[in-house]
Amino acid sequence: MTVRFAFLTDTHHYPDAPDDYGAPKMLTRSREVLDAIPPALNAQNFDFAVHGGDFLCGGSSFDIPTDTYLRSVAEAADAFDQVEAPFYAIPGNHDCDAQTWLFDGYAARFALPTPLTVIDAAPRLRLALANVFYQVDVKEKGSGVWSDTIDEALRAAADKALADGCALLLFLHTWFLPDFDWDRGMIEDADKLRQTFADCPALAMAFTGHRHINRITAHCDYLVVDTACLIGYPLGYREVVLSEDGYFKTTFHVLDLPRLLQDSYDRSTPEQNQIWEGHIHDRDTEILVPRLKAIWS
Ligand SMILES: [Fe+2]
Ligand SMILES: [Fe+2]
Repeated sequence: MTVRFAFLTDTHHYPDAPDDYGAPKMLTRSREVLDAIPPALNAQNFDFAVHGGDFLCGGSSFDIPTDTYLRSVAEAADAFDQVEAPFYAIPGNHDCDAQTWLFDGYAARFALPTPLTVIDAAPRLRLALANVFYQVDVKEKGSGVWSDTIDEALRAAADKALADGCALLLFLHTWFLPDFDWDRGMIEDADKLRQTFADCPALAMAFTGHRHINRITAHCDYLVVDTACLIGYPLGYREVVLSEDGYFKTTFHVLDLPRLLQDSYDRSTPEQNQIWEGHIHDRDTEILVPRLKAIWS
């Protein structure tokens, strides 16, 4: 058995943006990026695709008016409706209305987990789609919270997955493994989520966005896959292949927008660009995941 899917994140659509904002984002050209995504995914015939949140530029930083926010929701949703594979999504901190800090406009066009949705995505494979902003004041806690409510829901889903012989992949917007900045972009109560991973052997891997950095970490016997943004350098998405022998294989696909890619690259130093794109093995690699092997073999 082989499952093959796409993971993309942080597409940050902003209609008629007045500025590109912080590198590597290219917000003035978000329409160009949005138009390129569905044909790129459709050409690959994935089993399914998952978006890691921050479809939009609501919430903090951008302060866009509500009518622009609602237009961005409609345009992003229309674009992703063109993806032919089953398409799943979780919200990011920038998917709420900057004026009200509510996700109502987003929820009118995108499924919004309250707080966790479990999907049977393929034989013996389930996805846990987490909304880490559920009942959270996004203005105060832009990196989300790993609450008791969501933790209990994930533990129940993991127990059921184990009983049913299914691997469970967690998708959440923000990071829960620290890096050199330690807590920047980290979900509140990350230690609680790490404990749940330690306790629940059906949880084979987690996928995040938010930090706009490619990073893959094999931690204990599971995998944490952080992915760069799709609105600037390195301007790509992940192809992920999971095999019955427990192997995770990923290939980073760059959108065919060479001019935009170069313009985004030119906004940062080579050292900073290297951080966005990660090391070669943060983009293209093959890793044996003991938990996946144990569940599937
Ligand atoms: Fe983002
Ligand atoms: Fe974010």
